[in-house]
Amino acid sequence: MAQSIFIFGRQAKIGLAELTSITGSAALKTIAQGQVALANLTIKDPQAYLNQLGGSVKLLKLIADFKDEKILLNTMFNQLPSQPAKLFFGISYLGPSSIHQRLKQIKQWGMQLKKLLKGRKQGARFVSSRDPLLSSVIVRKNKLLSEAGKELVVMANKPHEFYLGETLAVQDFAAYSARDYGRPARDPKRGSLPPKLAQIMLNLAQVKPGQTIYDPCCGQGTILQEALLKGVTAIGSDLDHVAITASETNLAWLIKQGHLSKPDYQLFKADASKNERKLPPLDAIVTEGSLGPPLRKPPSKAQAEKLLAESITLITSILSTKRPFLKPGGRVIICLPYYQTDQGWLDPAPTFQNKLTSLGFTATTAPLLYQREQQLIGRQIWSLKLTLD
Ligand SMILES: C[S@@+](CC[C@H](N)C(=O)[O-])C[C@H]1O[C@@H](n2cnc3c(N)ncnc32)[C@H](O)[C@@H]1O
Repeated sequence: MAQSIFIFGRQAKIGLAELTSITGSAALKTIAQGQVALANLTIKDPQAYLNQLGGSVKLLKLIADFKDEKILLNTMFNQLPSQPAKLFFGISYLGPSSIHQRLKQIKQWGMQLKKLLKGRKQGARFVSSRDPLLSSVIVRKNKLLSEAGKELVVMANKPHEFYLGETLAVQDFAAYSARDYGRPARDPKRGSLPPKLAQIMLNLAQVKPGQTIYDPCCGQGTILQEALLKGVTAIGSDLDHVAITASETNLAWLIKQGHLSKPDYQLFKADASKNERKLPPLDAIVTEGSLGPPLRKPPSKAQAEKLLAESITLITSILSTKRPFLKPGGRVIICLPYYQTDQGWLDPAPTFQNKLTSLGFTATTAPLLYQREQQLIGRQIWSLKLTLD
């Protein structure tokens, strides 16, 4: 079986959890400080495979692994094709050494390879950036995924353990951006989940085409949208009729794009904490819940505890009222707010964990933290299943 390599985004632990859920295999080996996973997988359409993963930014094929760094340059050179047109090539380097050291090494390899290519009379342009991992935008804009280009990725694991890969697909940043900022009903003040995170949550729920998910706090419909894109039936409700209208508008827009074969969804207004309506059997409940009001400065610890208690109350009421509709084996993926207070971070785990047992749910893994730099509210993602499954 071929070795495929996944490079995770900034939240590498979440990328790994998602990939593990999708591949369902223990045959993943993480390298380069957890930023990369090697998988025994033969992938027919790398771009389509990567497009379903919100937590991975690149998909590569393994070219070779090494104990001796000295043969790396030659192996890289052998990967660069001879062609009449100018060759565009770039190198990314992941590993434990500093960004400065890695950039220096990349520059050196680039110069050496250009010299070797010149000897072969191959015109070439070396593409570099200020980041030792070339971004998806740079890879695409510089044609590194085209016939005329190549991105090689060096991954150092231990002092004498190197891997060389070739990039086959990069994250489709334009599609994510269109599904986020391109939607007709988008109100940043209301707080919206990034589509990548919605995709990750659905993958953690291991939902398959034809199954049904429910988001009882659907807001502008990001989770529902990503579910429809997976061929999953999406049921959404919200307390706020403005949110329902926004979801309706956004889903109609998505359907108009024409990427969905049989979009199947249902929207209604309801208080998620109550049992107002009979639901069909659910394969998963996937919801962000409410993360509280937007914050401009770190709240006091007491304030954050109050906000957290409100979020936990909502989530626990969702768990108890919707539990009867979950199919055996059904999953629940939820987010809890992770506040940066004026006295440090407030971890919701101890309080929430205590409530879970009496609600009849068990966490399937340790909670995962999704947090962008300088955000005052992170999201703690929980994967739950019924205790008696
Ligand atoms: C952070 S937003 C969810 C965002 C959504 N995941 C998205 O990407 O657009 C939280 C949503 O929960 C809804 N909400 C809060 N309390 C609720 C309740 N008790 N029942 C139903 N919806 C509720 C709010 O109206 C809001 O739309």
